[in-house]
Amino acid sequence: MLHKKPARYFSALIGFVLVVSSNVQAEPAAPKLANVAILATGGTIAGTGNSSTATVGYTAATVGVDRLIQAVPELAKVAKVTGEQVFQIASENMSNEHWLTLAKRVNVLLAQSNVDGIVITHGTDTLEETAYFLDLVVKSRKPVVVVGAMRPSNALSADGPMNLYNAVLLAASPEAVGKGVLVSLNDQIHAARDVSKTNTSTLDSFKSGDLGMLGYIQGNKPFFYHVSSRKHTVDTEFDIANLQALPQVDIVYGYANMGPVALNAFVGAGAKGIVHAGVGDGSLSNKVKPALIAARKDGVLIVRSSRVGQGILARNGEANDDELDFVVSDTLNPQKARILLMLAMTKTSDSKEIQRMFYTY
Ligand code: SIN
Repeated sequence: MLHKKPARYFSALIGFVLVVSSNVQAEPAAPKLANVAILATGGTIAGTGNSSTATVGYTAATVGVDRLIQAVPELAKVAKVTGEQVFQIASENMSNEHWLTLAKRVNVLLAQSNVDGIVITHGTDTLEETAYFLDLVVKSRKPVVVVGAMRPSNALSADGPMNLYNAVLLAASPEAVGKGVLVSLNDQIHAARDVSKTNTSTLDSFKSGDLGMLGYIQGNKPFFYHVSSRKHTVDTEFDIANLQALPQVDIVYGYANMGPVALNAFVGAGAKGIVHAGVGDGSLSNKVKPALIAARKDGVLIVRSSRVGQGILARNGEANDDELDFVVSDTLNPQKARILLMLAMTKTSDSKEIQRMFYTY
Protein backbone atom coordinates (compact mmCIF):
# COMPACT_ATOMS: atom_id res chain seq x y z
CA MET A 1 0.00 0.00 0.00
CA LEU A 2 2.65 2.46 1.08
CA HIS A 3 4.51 2.34 -2.16
CA LYS A 4 1.30 3.14 -4.15
CA LYS A 5 0.76 6.58 -2.49
CA PRO A 6 3.71 8.47 -4.06
CA ALA A 7 2.69 7.08 -7.44
CA ARG A 8 -0.79 8.57 -6.99
CA TYR A 9 0.69 11.96 -6.03
CA PHE A 10 3.06 11.81 -8.97
CA SER A 11 0.32 11.14 -11.53
CA ALA A 12 -1.84 13.91 -9.98
CA LEU A 13 1.13 16.28 -10.33
CA ILE A 14 1.58 15.34 -14.00
CA GLY A 15 -2.15 15.95 -14.60
CA PHE A 16 -1.92 19.37 -12.90
CA VAL A 17 1.09 20.34 -15.04
CA LEU A 18 -0.70 19.23 -18.21
CA VAL A 19 -3.85 21.20 -17.32
CA VAL A 20 -1.84 24.32 -16.48
CA SER A 21 0.31 24.09 -19.61
CA SER A 22 -2.73 23.56 -21.84
CA ASN A 23 -4.23 26.76 -20.42
CA VAL A 24 -1.10 28.83 -21.12
CA GLN A 25 -1.68 30.55 -24.47
CA ALA A 26 1.38 30.50 -26.73
CA GLU A 27 2.28 33.95 -28.06
CA PRO A 28 0.75 34.19 -31.58
CA ALA A 29 3.50 34.10 -34.18
CA ALA A 30 3.98 37.50 -35.83
CA PRO A 31 2.58 37.39 -39.38
CA LYS A 32 5.31 37.12 -41.96
CA LEU A 33 5.45 40.42 -43.79
CA ALA A 34 6.01 40.58 -47.53
CA ASN A 35 9.10 42.36 -48.87
CA VAL A 36 8.05 45.30 -51.01
CA ALA A 37 10.54 47.44 -52.92
CA ILE A 38 9.46 51.04 -53.49
CA LEU A 39 10.99 52.51 -56.64
CA ALA A 40 10.59 56.29 -56.69
CA THR A 41 10.56 58.24 -59.93
CA GLY A 42 9.32 61.70 -58.81
CA GLY A 43 6.01 63.41 -59.58
CA THR A 44 3.56 65.27 -57.37
CA ILE A 45 3.57 62.51 -54.77
CA ALA A 46 7.15 63.70 -54.18
CA GLY A 47 6.34 67.37 -54.81
CA THR A 48 6.22 70.42 -52.56
CA GLY A 49 4.36 73.71 -52.81
CA ASN A 50 5.07 77.14 -51.31
CA SER A 51 2.19 76.73 -48.89
CA SER A 52 -0.13 74.02 -47.62
CA THR A 53 -2.89 75.30 -49.90
CA ALA A 54 -0.78 75.43 -53.07
CA THR A 55 -2.42 72.57 -54.97
CA VAL A 56 -1.34 74.07 -58.29
CA GLY A 57 1.91 75.76 -59.25
CA TYR A 58 4.00 73.60 -56.92
CA THR A 59 7.24 71.83 -57.79
CA ALA A 60 7.07 68.11 -58.56
CA ALA A 61 9.86 65.65 -57.69
CA THR A 62 11.59 67.33 -54.74
CA VAL A 63 11.18 64.79 -51.92
CA GLY A 64 13.38 61.69 -51.86
CA VAL A 65 12.17 58.13 -51.40
CA ASP A 66 13.48 57.88 -47.82
CA ARG A 67 11.33 60.83 -46.74
CA LEU A 68 8.32 59.42 -48.58
CA ILE A 69 8.68 56.20 -46.59
CA GLN A 70 9.38 57.97 -43.27
CA ALA A 71 6.19 60.01 -43.73
CA VAL A 72 4.13 56.80 -43.54
CA PRO A 73 5.35 54.78 -40.54
CA GLU A 74 2.24 52.59 -40.94
CA LEU A 75 3.95 50.94 -43.93
CA ALA A 76 5.97 48.85 -41.45
CA LYS A 77 2.75 47.14 -40.35
CA VAL A 78 1.94 45.79 -43.81
CA ALA A 79 5.32 45.07 -45.41
CA LYS A 80 9.06 45.21 -45.06
CA VAL A 81 9.78 48.09 -47.38
CA THR A 82 12.98 49.22 -49.02
CA GLY A 83 13.35 52.39 -51.08
CA GLU A 84 15.26 53.11 -54.24
CA GLN A 85 15.39 56.43 -56.08
CA VAL A 86 15.36 55.39 -59.73
CA PHE A 87 14.70 58.88 -61.15
CA GLN A 88 13.58 62.20 -59.69
CA ILE A 89 11.54 63.79 -62.48
CA ALA A 90 8.19 65.32 -63.29
CA SER A 91 6.48 62.70 -65.39
CA GLU A 92 6.08 64.89 -68.49
CA ASN A 93 9.81 64.20 -68.86
CA MET A 94 9.38 60.42 -68.81
CA SER A 95 11.01 58.98 -71.94
CA ASN A 96 11.38 55.64 -73.71
CA GLU A 97 14.86 55.40 -72.19
CA HIS A 98 13.47 55.90 -68.67
CA TRP A 99 10.95 53.13 -69.34
CA LEU A 100 13.62 50.69 -70.45
CA THR A 101 15.77 51.47 -67.40
CA LEU A 102 12.80 51.15 -65.03
CA ALA A 103 11.45 47.94 -66.56
CA LYS A 104 14.87 46.27 -66.49
CA ARG A 105 15.26 47.20 -62.81
CA VAL A 106 11.77 45.89 -62.01
CA ASN A 107 12.52 42.58 -63.73
CA VAL A 108 15.85 42.20 -61.89
CA LEU A 109 14.20 42.87 -58.52
CA LEU A 110 11.22 40.59 -59.14
CA ALA A 111 13.55 37.74 -60.06
CA GLN A 112 14.98 37.92 -56.52
CA SER A 113 13.45 35.63 -53.91
CA ASN A 114 13.65 38.40 -51.30
CA VAL A 115 11.29 40.71 -53.26
CA ASP A 116 7.58 39.88 -53.16
CA GLY A 117 6.18 42.97 -54.84
CA ILE A 118 7.04 46.39 -56.19
CA VAL A 119 5.53 49.84 -55.80
CA ILE A 120 6.51 52.58 -58.23
CA THR A 121 5.83 56.16 -57.20
CA HIS A 122 5.23 58.28 -60.29
CA GLY A 123 3.89 61.60 -61.54
CA THR A 124 0.27 61.30 -62.59
CA ASP A 125 0.62 62.95 -66.00
CA THR A 126 2.12 59.93 -67.77
CA LEU A 127 1.49 57.34 -65.06
CA GLU A 128 -0.94 55.39 -67.24
CA GLU A 129 1.69 55.10 -69.97
CA THR A 130 4.46 53.81 -67.71
CA ALA A 131 2.02 51.36 -66.13
CA TYR A 132 0.94 49.99 -69.52
CA PHE A 133 4.54 49.73 -70.74
CA LEU A 134 5.41 47.72 -67.63
CA ASP A 135 2.26 45.62 -68.03
CA LEU A 136 3.60 44.48 -71.40
CA VAL A 137 7.24 43.86 -70.44
CA VAL A 138 7.42 42.79 -66.77
CA LYS A 139 8.24 39.10 -66.60
CA SER A 140 6.77 38.11 -63.26
CA ARG A 141 3.41 37.35 -61.67
CA LYS A 142 4.44 39.19 -58.50
CA PRO A 143 2.44 42.38 -57.90
CA VAL A 144 3.61 45.66 -59.40
CA VAL A 145 1.62 48.73 -58.34
CA VAL A 146 2.10 52.19 -59.84
CA VAL A 147 0.97 55.03 -57.58
CA GLY A 148 0.89 58.81 -57.65
CA ALA A 149 -0.87 61.68 -55.96
CA MET A 150 -2.87 64.64 -57.16
CA ARG A 151 -1.72 66.91 -54.31
CA PRO A 152 1.88 67.70 -53.35
CA SER A 153 3.31 66.18 -50.21
CA ASN A 154 2.94 69.29 -48.01
CA ALA A 155 -0.63 70.17 -49.08
CA LEU A 156 -3.60 70.08 -46.74
CA SER A 157 -5.20 66.63 -47.14
CA ALA A 158 -2.35 65.43 -49.31
CA ASP A 159 -3.41 62.16 -50.92
CA GLY A 160 0.12 60.78 -51.35
CA PRO A 161 0.62 59.12 -47.93
CA MET A 162 -2.66 57.15 -48.05
CA ASN A 163 -2.15 56.29 -51.71
CA LEU A 164 1.36 55.01 -50.91
CA TYR A 165 0.08 53.01 -47.93
CA ASN A 166 -2.63 51.43 -50.09
CA ALA A 167 -0.16 50.69 -52.89
CA VAL A 168 2.23 48.90 -50.51
CA LEU A 169 -0.68 47.00 -48.98
CA LEU A 170 -1.74 45.94 -52.45
CA ALA A 171 1.77 44.99 -53.58
CA ALA A 172 2.10 42.85 -50.44
CA SER A 173 -1.23 41.10 -50.93
CA PRO A 174 -1.68 37.59 -52.38
CA GLU A 175 -4.84 38.85 -54.13
CA ALA A 176 -2.74 41.04 -56.43
CA VAL A 177 -0.56 38.19 -57.70
CA GLY A 178 -0.99 37.50 -61.43
CA LYS A 179 -3.28 40.47 -62.05
CA GLY A 180 -0.83 42.40 -64.23
CA VAL A 181 0.49 45.85 -63.43
CA LEU A 182 -1.97 47.70 -61.21
CA VAL A 183 -2.60 51.39 -60.65
CA SER A 184 -3.92 52.51 -57.30
CA LEU A 185 -5.04 55.99 -56.24
CA ASN A 186 -8.04 57.28 -54.29
CA ASP A 187 -8.75 53.86 -52.68
CA GLN A 188 -9.31 52.28 -56.11
CA ILE A 189 -7.52 49.56 -58.07
CA HIS A 190 -7.23 49.82 -61.85
CA ALA A 191 -5.70 47.70 -64.60
CA ALA A 192 -2.76 49.43 -66.31
CA ARG A 193 -4.28 48.83 -69.75
CA ASP A 194 -7.57 50.55 -69.09
CA VAL A 195 -6.87 53.39 -66.68
CA SER A 196 -6.44 57.04 -67.66
CA LYS A 197 -5.96 60.37 -65.99
CA THR A 198 -9.27 62.10 -66.70
CA ASN A 199 -9.14 65.33 -64.72
CA THR A 200 -6.34 67.88 -64.44
CA SER A 201 -6.58 68.30 -60.69
CA THR A 202 -9.26 66.42 -58.73
CA LEU A 203 -8.44 63.55 -56.42
CA ASP A 204 -10.69 61.14 -58.35
CA SER A 205 -8.86 61.78 -61.62
CA PHE A 206 -7.95 58.16 -62.43
CA LYS A 207 -10.74 56.21 -64.12
CA SER A 208 -11.04 53.10 -66.27
CA GLY A 209 -14.01 54.39 -68.25
CA ASP A 210 -16.54 51.98 -69.68
CA LEU A 211 -14.31 48.98 -69.04
CA GLY A 212 -14.34 49.62 -65.31
CA MET A 213 -11.87 49.46 -62.47
CA LEU A 214 -10.83 46.20 -60.84
CA GLY A 215 -11.70 46.94 -57.24
CA TYR A 216 -11.24 48.95 -54.07
CA ILE A 217 -8.99 49.09 -51.07
CA GLN A 218 -10.96 49.42 -47.87
CA GLY A 219 -10.20 48.72 -44.23
CA ASN A 220 -6.63 47.62 -44.97
CA LYS A 221 -7.72 45.07 -47.54
CA PRO A 222 -7.92 44.93 -51.33
CA PHE A 223 -11.25 43.85 -52.81
CA PHE A 224 -11.16 42.66 -56.43
CA TYR A 225 -14.36 42.41 -58.50
CA HIS A 226 -12.96 42.13 -62.05
CA VAL A 227 -9.78 41.06 -63.83
CA SER A 228 -8.44 42.30 -67.13
CA SER A 229 -9.04 39.73 -69.86
CA ARG A 230 -6.14 40.97 -71.99
CA LYS A 231 -2.76 39.25 -71.84
CA HIS A 232 -0.05 40.91 -69.77
CA THR A 233 3.31 40.43 -68.03
CA VAL A 234 4.46 36.77 -68.27
CA ASP A 235 1.98 36.09 -71.11
CA THR A 236 3.26 38.70 -73.57
CA GLU A 237 5.77 38.13 -76.37
CA PHE A 238 7.81 41.23 -75.56
CA ASP A 239 11.29 41.03 -74.07
CA ILE A 240 13.21 44.19 -73.28
CA ALA A 241 16.13 42.53 -71.46
CA ASN A 242 18.57 43.33 -74.24
CA LEU A 243 16.78 46.27 -75.81
CA GLN A 244 18.69 49.56 -75.88
CA ALA A 245 16.07 51.73 -77.64
CA LEU A 246 12.53 51.70 -78.96
CA PRO A 247 11.54 52.66 -82.51
CA GLN A 248 10.34 56.22 -83.08
CA VAL A 249 6.55 56.37 -83.02
CA ASP A 250 4.68 59.69 -82.86
CA ILE A 251 1.06 60.73 -82.44
CA VAL A 252 -0.78 63.09 -84.77
CA TYR A 253 -3.87 64.66 -83.25
CA GLY A 254 -7.12 65.00 -85.20
CA TYR A 255 -9.19 68.19 -85.21
CA ALA A 256 -11.36 70.24 -87.58
CA ASN A 257 -9.26 71.80 -90.35
CA MET A 258 -6.51 69.19 -89.80
CA GLY A 259 -3.83 69.10 -92.47
CA PRO A 260 -0.80 66.87 -93.08
CA VAL A 261 1.86 69.23 -91.69
CA ALA A 262 2.47 67.53 -88.35
CA LEU A 263 2.34 64.05 -89.89
CA ASN A 264 4.84 64.96 -92.61
CA ALA A 265 7.11 66.60 -90.05
CA PHE A 266 7.14 63.44 -87.90
CA VAL A 267 7.83 61.22 -90.90
CA GLY A 268 10.52 63.64 -92.10
CA ALA A 269 12.09 63.47 -88.64
CA GLY A 270 12.35 59.68 -88.89
CA ALA A 271 9.13 58.31 -87.40
CA LYS A 272 8.79 54.60 -88.18
CA GLY A 273 5.26 54.46 -86.86
CA ILE A 274 2.40 56.92 -86.54
CA VAL A 275 -0.63 56.77 -84.28
CA HIS A 276 -3.42 58.86 -85.78
CA ALA A 277 -5.60 60.12 -82.91
CA GLY A 278 -8.56 60.75 -85.16
CA VAL A 279 -11.87 62.39 -84.44
CA GLY A 280 -14.83 60.10 -83.68
CA ASP A 281 -14.20 56.51 -84.73
CA GLY A 282 -10.74 57.46 -86.03
CA SER A 283 -11.92 59.33 -89.12
CA LEU A 284 -9.30 60.65 -91.54
CA SER A 285 -9.69 64.13 -93.04
CA ASN A 286 -9.39 64.50 -96.80
CA LYS A 287 -6.19 66.45 -96.28
CA VAL A 288 -4.44 63.96 -94.00
CA LYS A 289 -5.53 60.71 -95.68
CA PRO A 290 -3.24 60.97 -98.74
CA ALA A 291 -0.28 61.77 -96.50
CA LEU A 292 -1.00 58.71 -94.34
CA ILE A 293 -1.27 56.53 -97.46
CA ALA A 294 2.04 57.90 -98.76
CA ALA A 295 3.72 57.32 -95.41
CA ARG A 296 2.50 53.71 -95.35
CA LYS A 297 3.85 53.17 -98.88
CA ASP A 298 7.20 54.42 -97.54
CA GLY A 299 7.10 51.69 -94.87
CA VAL A 300 5.76 53.74 -91.94
CA LEU A 301 3.29 51.73 -89.85
CA ILE A 302 -0.02 53.50 -89.28
CA VAL A 303 -2.33 52.86 -86.34
CA ARG A 304 -5.75 54.48 -86.36
CA SER A 305 -6.85 55.46 -82.86
CA SER A 306 -9.36 57.98 -81.53
CA ARG A 307 -9.19 61.13 -79.46
CA VAL A 308 -12.65 60.30 -78.00
CA GLY A 309 -11.29 58.20 -75.12
CA GLN A 310 -13.89 55.40 -75.07
CA GLY A 311 -15.03 52.68 -77.42
CA ILE A 312 -13.68 50.21 -79.97
CA LEU A 313 -11.96 51.65 -83.03
CA ALA A 314 -13.81 49.73 -85.76
CA ARG A 315 -11.55 48.03 -88.29
CA ASN A 316 -12.65 48.87 -91.85
CA GLY A 317 -15.13 51.36 -90.43
CA GLU A 318 -14.13 54.97 -91.14
CA ALA A 319 -11.32 53.76 -93.44
CA ASN A 320 -10.67 50.63 -95.46
CA ASP A 321 -7.86 49.35 -93.26
CA ASP A 322 -7.46 46.10 -95.20
CA GLU A 323 -6.86 48.01 -98.42
CA LEU A 324 -4.73 50.77 -96.87
CA ASP A 325 -2.77 48.28 -94.75
CA PHE A 326 -3.49 50.21 -91.55
CA VAL A 327 -3.86 48.86 -88.03
CA VAL A 328 -6.63 49.87 -85.61
CA SER A 329 -6.07 50.44 -81.91
CA ASP A 330 -9.08 48.51 -80.55
CA THR A 331 -9.91 50.31 -77.26
CA LEU A 332 -6.41 51.66 -76.59
CA ASN A 333 -6.14 55.41 -76.34
CA PRO A 334 -3.51 57.04 -78.60
CA GLN A 335 -0.79 57.28 -75.93
CA LYS A 336 -1.14 53.58 -75.11
CA ALA A 337 -1.43 52.62 -78.77
CA ARG A 338 1.95 54.32 -79.25
CA ILE A 339 3.47 52.05 -76.59
CA LEU A 340 2.06 48.85 -78.05
CA LEU A 341 3.12 49.84 -81.56
CA MET A 342 6.69 50.52 -80.41
CA LEU A 343 6.90 47.14 -78.69
CA ALA A 344 5.21 45.37 -81.60
CA MET A 345 7.80 46.86 -83.96
CA THR A 346 10.58 45.26 -81.89
CA LYS A 347 9.14 41.92 -83.07
CA THR A 348 7.80 42.47 -86.59
CA SER A 349 6.97 44.97 -89.32
CA ASP A 350 4.03 42.87 -90.56
CA SER A 351 0.88 44.97 -90.08
CA LYS A 352 -1.33 41.86 -89.78
CA GLU A 353 0.78 40.53 -86.97
CA ILE A 354 0.66 43.94 -85.32
CA GLN A 355 -3.13 44.00 -85.66
CA ARG A 356 -3.22 40.62 -83.90
CA MET A 357 -1.22 42.14 -81.04
CA PHE A 358 -3.69 45.02 -80.74
CA TYR A 359 -6.48 42.49 -80.29
CA THR A 360 -4.42 40.49 -77.79
CA TYR A 361 -2.98 43.04 -75.33
C1 SIN B 1 3.84 64.82 -62.84
O1 SIN B 1 3.18 64.09 -63.57
O2 SIN B 1 5.02 64.59 -62.58
C2 SIN B 1 3.23 66.04 -62.26
C3 SIN B 1 1.78 65.90 -61.98
C4 SIN B 1 1.44 64.88 -60.96
O3 SIN B 1 2.22 64.05 -60.53
O4 SIN B 1 0.25 64.89 -60.54
